[in-house]
Amino acid sequence: MARDGVVLEVDAVSRSFGALAALTEVSLTVREGEVFSVIGPNGAGKSTLFNVVTGIHAPTAGRVRFGGREISGLAPEAINRLGIAKTFQITNIFPEISVFENVRVAAQSRARESGRLPSLWRLPDVGDAVTDLLTAFGLTDKRDELAENLSHGEQRYLEICLALATEPTLLLLDEPTAGMTPGETKAATALIRQIASARGLTLLLIEHDMSVVMGISDRIAVLHFGEKIAEGRPEEIRSDPRVIEAYLGPAEE
Ligand SMILES: Nc1ncnc2c1ncn2[C@@H]1O[C@H](COP(=O)(O)OP(=O)(O)OP(=O)(O)O)[C@@H](O)[C@H]1O
Ligand SMILES: [Mg+2]
Repeated sequence: MARDGVVLEVDAVSRSFGALAALTEVSLTVREGEVFSVIGPNGAGKSTLFNVVTGIHAPTAGRVRFGGREISGLAPEAINRLGIAKTFQITNIFPEISVFENVRVAAQSRARESGRLPSLWRLPDVGDAVTDLLTAFGLTDKRDELAENLSHGEQRYLEICLALATEPTLLLLDEPTAGMTPGETKAATALIRQIASARGLTLLLIEHDMSVVMGISDRIAVLHFGEKIAEGRPEEIRSDPRVIEAYLGPAEE
C-alpha cells in the first residue's frame, strides 16, 4: 500500500469557507507506522484538515494522496473503504444500542462494502473481530450495556473501536482524550499507542493536551490560522519560537 513508506501525502491543500481561509497551502507527509500529530490553537484548521483527508470537505486547492493514489474529491465512504477511518472531536456512537452491537454494525458495514455479504439474511460473522476489539479496550464486561450508559472515557474508547472495526491502515483521531481526566488521558494515550503498533496502524492525531502530544508523537505539525508554521520531532517543536509565540501570543505588546 505505501510507496516509499509514505502512507498519506497532503500536498499544498487549501480550503476556504466563503471569505475564511481555514487552510492555506498545507503540506504533510505521513509515513507508515508513525504517530503524526497536528496541533495548533482553537480555529487553526486542524479538524478542517481531517475533514479534507476523509472526504467530508473537498479541498479548494491542492491534493491528497493515500498510498500514492489521489483521493481528493472521493466520497467519505469511498475513502473509508480504501483504508482511512476517523473518530470525531465529539463522540459519535449509537447511544441506544449495546456496546457489542455498535461495533458489530461498524464491522459489518465494512464487510458489506467489500462485497463479502452473501445475502441480506446472512450477515458476515464479525463476532470474533468485535470481541477482540472490546478486549483490547477493556470493554468486555460492558458488551451488553447500552452505549449511552458508558462513562465518557468508555464512550471515547468505543468510538475508536467503531473506527478500527472498519479495518483501516490509517486512523485519524480528533482529540481522543477530550473530556477525560488526567489519569484517563494517560491510560488512553498508552493504550492507543500500543494498539496502533500491534495492528501496524499509522496514526494521525489531533490533540490539545501537550503532555499527550509530546509523549505519543513521532512527528508533529503545527497549524496557526490555517498555515503550517512548524513541523518536527517533539523536542524540536517544544523549543520552536514560532510555536511558543502561536500558543502564548507575542512576547511583548
Ligand atoms: N463547515 C464550516 N463552515 C464554515 N466555517 C468553518 C467550517 N468548518 C470550520 N470552519 C471554520 O474554519 C476555521 C478552522 O476550524 P477548525 O474546526 O478546522 O479548527 P480547529 O483547529 O479544529 O479548532 P478547535 O481546536 O477549536 O477544534 C474556523 O474559523 C472555523 O470556524
Ligand atoms: Mg477541531
